[in-house]
Amino acid sequence: MIDSAQLFDAIVRERRSVRIYDQENDFDGDIVQRSLERAVLAPNSSNMQLWEFYRIIDPIKRNQIAKYCMNQNAARTARELVVVVVRKDKWRERAKFMFNYHKKRIGNKTKTEYTKRDKRNLNYFGKLMPMYYFSDWFGIWAWIRKILVFSASFFRPVIWQVGNSDLRVVSHKSAALAAQTFMLSMHAEGYHTCPMEGFDSWKVRRCMQLPYAAEINMIIACGKGKPEGIYTERIRVDNKEIIFSI
Ligand SMILES: Cc1cc2nc3c(=O)[nH]c(=O)nc-3n(C[C@H](O)[C@H](O)[C@H](O)COP(=O)(O)O)c2cc1C
Repeated sequence: MIDSAQLFDAIVRERRSVRIYDQENDFDGDIVQRSLERAVLAPNSSNMQLWEFYRIIDPIKRNQIAKYCMNQNAARTARELVVVVVRKDKWRERAKFMFNYHKKRIGNKTKTEYTKRDKRNLNYFGKLMPMYYFSDWFGIWAWIRKILVFSASFFRPVIWQVGNSDLRVVSHKSAALAAQTFMLSMHAEGYHTCPMEGFDSWKVRRCMQLPYAAEINMIIACGKGKPEGIYTERIRVDNKEIIFSI
């Protein structure tokens, strides 16, 4: 019997970026849906869930987006495209969602009955996250955050990454973890994928009518891969060069 570690090992080892997809057989969109529902279970920064996932199922839109993916084979032959989008601009909504969740969980305790964790959670989503994510056009708030962090660093360890671009990295990291979860799930279901960052983000965003603040993390081609869709054997540098114990 295969245990779960063996199964996971097989999924990870067998997953490849596949760039040519079968056009003949039926494609089961439910598997994409199911895999996306698994993807949102991926770990994400502060559980802010600043992401969205768009299934491009309309063939006209798909062809258009494939064109904006530089007409790459993976995009052109994909049976579906999944666009992973970062929505850093949704921080207010998400912080409120988490704050309300904790408020509801705490119930009608009086403030004096709050546990330390209750207080920490309410403070985290009610005050800290807004301070962390708030940004203005001139980046003044980001500088205030940086100065506060710098001052605090003399007294205790601090999180230095509080600038606006740091927060973009934070959000993209989480989205990429979801993307990988999605691709592994697709593989486990017998389908193949290819993540792509080679696309014209302006044109894709316009085609999808996404707001200016939405950032496309990656576009994932999906389908049943053809053997010729795997271009090379799997190549990685030696583990000794990249995995260290300190
Ligand atoms: C963020 C990201 C962007 C990528 N963009 C492209 C792309 O635009 N086109 C493409 O053919 N492959 C793309 N790839 C796939 C990589 O080339 C591929 O993962 C790498 O060569 C390793 O091969 P493997 O996935 O089969 O192990 C991308 C992968 C990642 C993670």
